[in-house]
Amino acid sequence: QMKGAIFDLDGVIVDTAKYHFLAWRSLAEELGFEFTEEHNERLKGVSRMTSLDILLEIGSLEFTEAEKLEMADRKNRLYVEYISQLDQSELLPGVKEYLNRLRERGVGIALGSASKNAQFILDKLNIAGMFDAVIDGNKVSRAKPDPEVFQTACHELGLQPRECVVFEDAEAGVAAGKAAGMQVVGIGRPEVLREADLVITGLHEL
Ligand code: G6P
Ligand code: MG
Repeated sequence: QMKGAIFDLDGVIVDTAKYHFLAWRSLAEELGFEFTEEHNERLKGVSRMTSLDILLEIGSLEFTEAEKLEMADRKNRLYVEYISQLDQSELLPGVKEYLNRLRERGVGIALGSASKNAQFILDKLNIAGMFDAVIDGNKVSRAKPDPEVFQTACHELGLQPRECVVFEDAEAGVAAGKAAGMQVVGIGRPEVLREADLVITGLHEL
């Protein structure tokens, strides 16, 4: 019996993954190496600074902490430029309907995202009011696959882990949900989301 639904944001509610990808790829280009969609899989769900570390590992480059902060900031400015154009039309198929259905059934709804831009995005999409709790990258210190973000969301909903279902598109996010002791619905490809209890292509399938 699902009493709480905890949604990842990027790739589950809205396809911001493509904007993250474009912004990271442009940074990689500046640094002189190629960054592919395949590489990008590894960045999904992980925090901004960890994403940068993975990117630099792919390019076999090393930088000082200060240089890295500047690069992450540069990437974010580009990303924010992309997402400032977001509107309701970019909600993924079935999201609005599914959230409405959950609300009617009295299921608690939370956001569990690593993004520090989550609130900005929810506002752009005009769906902030549908969430009983919003846990984002500003509220947690340990990134997925650590379960902290989902544990915090579950706690804010006033529920137990076994009463919550996590919706995730990233490998690290699925792992975080399982580590939190929750059921996990994977959104995407079964080959990538092996640990999920169920894999679907999008919320429109439910
Ligand atoms: C999400 C995305 C990641 C992104 C992370 C941090 O989990 O899937 O690709 O790196 O959030 O996002 P931010 O908006 O804070 O840079
Ligand atoms: Mg995601």
